[in-house]
Amino acid sequence: MTTEQEPQVSEAQIAVHWREEDYLQPPAKFIGQANAADPAIIERFAERSFPDCFKEYADLLTWDSYWHTTLDTSEPPFWKWFVGGRLNACYNCVDRHLSSRRNQAAFIWVPEPEAEEQQAITYQELYRRVNEFAALLRDFGGVQVGDRVTFHLPMVPELPVAMLACARLGVIHSEVFGGFSGAACGGRVADSGSHILVTMDGYYRNGQLVDHKIKADEAVATAREQGHEVDKVLVWRRHPGQYASASPMVDGRDFFVDELLPDYRGAVVEPVSMPAEAPLFLMYTSGTTGRPKGCQHSTGGYLSYVAGTSKYYQDIHPDDTYWCCADIGWITGHSYIVYGPLALGTTSVMYEGVPTYPDAGRVWRICQRLGVNIFHTAPTTIRMLRKLGPDEPARYDYHLKHMTTVGEPIEPEVWRWYHDVAGKGEAAIVDTWWQTENGGFLGSTLPALQPMKPGSCGPGVLGVYPVIYDEDGATVEAGSGRAGNICIRNPWPGIFQTIWGQPDRFVQLYYEKYCRDKNSTDWRDWPYFAGDGAVQAADGYFRILGRVDDVINVAGHRLGTKEIESASLTVEEIAEAAAVPVMDEVRGRAVEVYVALKPGLAPSEDVANKVALAIDREIGKIARPRHVWIVTDMPKTRSGKIMRRVIAGISNFADVGDVSTLANPEIVEAIRHHVQSEKVAKGEVPRELTAQEAEEIKAFGRAE
Ligand code: WTA
Repeated sequence: MTTEQEPQVSEAQIAVHWREEDYLQPPAKFIGQANAADPAIIERFAERSFPDCFKEYADLLTWDSYWHTTLDTSEPPFWKWFVGGRLNACYNCVDRHLSSRRNQAAFIWVPEPEAEEQQAITYQELYRRVNEFAALLRDFGGVQVGDRVTFHLPMVPELPVAMLACARLGVIHSEVFGGFSGAACGGRVADSGSHILVTMDGYYRNGQLVDHKIKADEAVATAREQGHEVDKVLVWRRHPGQYASASPMVDGRDFFVDELLPDYRGAVVEPVSMPAEAPLFLMYTSGTTGRPKGCQHSTGGYLSYVAGTSKYYQDIHPDDTYWCCADIGWITGHSYIVYGPLALGTTSVMYEGVPTYPDAGRVWRICQRLGVNIFHTAPTTIRMLRKLGPDEPARYDYHLKHMTTVGEPIEPEVWRWYHDVAGKGEAAIVDTWWQTENGGFLGSTLPALQPMKPGSCGPGVLGVYPVIYDEDGATVEAGSGRAGNICIRNPWPGIFQTIWGQPDRFVQLYYEKYCRDKNSTDWRDWPYFAGDGAVQAADGYFRILGRVDDVINVAGHRLGTKEIESASLTVEEIAEAAAVPVMDEVRGRAVEVYVALKPGLAPSEDVANKVALAIDREIGKIARPRHVWIVTDMPKTRSGKIMRRVIAGISNFADVGDVSTLANPEIVEAIRHHVQSEKVAKGEVPRELTAQEAEEIKAFGRAE
């Protein structure tokens, strides 16, 4: 049945319907060519073979010296993988492919303007660019093994070049998503202690050449406020020789990379042989408090894990044309645009701009033109493509063998459009659940061996054994339909090593909750707390319900409520702020902000605008609130904490739950009346939440 033929049903009915989703089997043609087609692989990764089963992933890499200990648990929960082994990540992603596929494209880069030619960067060309930039970073930048370098780069080939150049030198890279503000970037520069910032003058987004260099000036200023100096800003130019930014270059600090590079033409830099446990990169993510968390990923464990999961779950073969339509500024791009695909020596497509620019057929035109056969994206993009161009895929001649969805729960209706219309019913689909902290997939189906079930990510992946615990640590029975906290019982090679500079917080946030014995060096006593709610069906498949802490997932990007609130509080007039999620048809969730003004000040549109602008400036447009509501007071507990679930309920026209324990219960009705009547006046049509969404809203900010 296609989506068009189905009667319109309300969201509530969809939720009920969800429980009855049928399996879909992968096409025989897919099974015939799949990397994981023999069920014996599931046996090989069974718990009794843990941790040695992961040798199979590590053996996909080329090691300078082999490890002596697969998993060292002596300092829990700081797990060490493949101890004693040495390797270089850049060598594994570039050099070792030269002998067999020197002139195969490693990347095909598609610029946003359709009139601009795409660039195919062969492995040989990538090798040359990476070596030259590595020489520049080392000799001009003065970086050494273990130093950190921050990038604030858009989706251009210079980004993976810079990543691989750092990896070649044993330098830790930290890419900040290009859409984040200068201030957000500066905070991450300071936190990581980077003395070099690599950026670009501008890039294309929605048809505009956006001024990006300006954010570097803000980043340097923010880092300085936090007591950290940036020595050099290396600026790539989107069009070499032409400067696209209005922001002046600062003498002695800012340098155009295209002017420096001629000095390094033809340079060859020996890849530095790194211990498996050496950090490869930091990837910052939002947490429950304002300070972002720099997730530190290892070299040997991480690279093994992304290579293995790319091979078996993405089904990547070297001769595939693989397109992960995500941004490298997020973990998905690090693992599944750059490191995983390149470790396997395939061709990875990169697209600069907005998937629906200049029209809703763009993505499918790219698939047709390049002969893409594996496509990977997030539900938010799928929803957008479905909304703007539901019939576009049929107009293009492309054929996908495999498709992925990642980043947030996908509604079965949207899943079906992805499968039937976007994938033309020809592709095996995997719904991959995981997090920045995890390096690679945690929950998914093996595409040729385990059937698809719309809305469920599937069982734990090979060598990963999930469990659902209740708040007290008791196991929630599979198939009981009861939600709980999904945890992973065992370590796996892709798990992050620590939060950069905050080891205590690492232990506290991810392991303390369910640790059975702090003195134990047995990994079985240290389940990993993922912070997501989930239910497990009797067949072992998990359905992820979303975050249990106060993080809002906008278009697949995690935004910390505390970060949004602190940004709001940078506005002079604001006394208190609370950010909550609202349901959004396209982006999954959108942000609404409630603010209370300092005493004596009158509410005005001007103040509301200032708050929105402050959020833009501090975090980025992605966090821009749909509404800023000025209220006289917030609903609070007796201990003075804001009850976010109550205002989240109001914003979503949902039940606000029990308010009897509030210090000021009378405020709830006043806020509800104000907010909901204005929403209705603005033409917002409230819809009934699904049971699952209602659950999420009720649980929002539950830590309080
Ligand atoms: C959510 C992205 C349902 C989840 C790779 C997780 C998902 C958070 C899925 C991590 C999925 C990710 N189904 N929910 N397939 N994938 N999530 O760190 O709440 O940006 O904790 O990593 O996104 O987001 P992050």
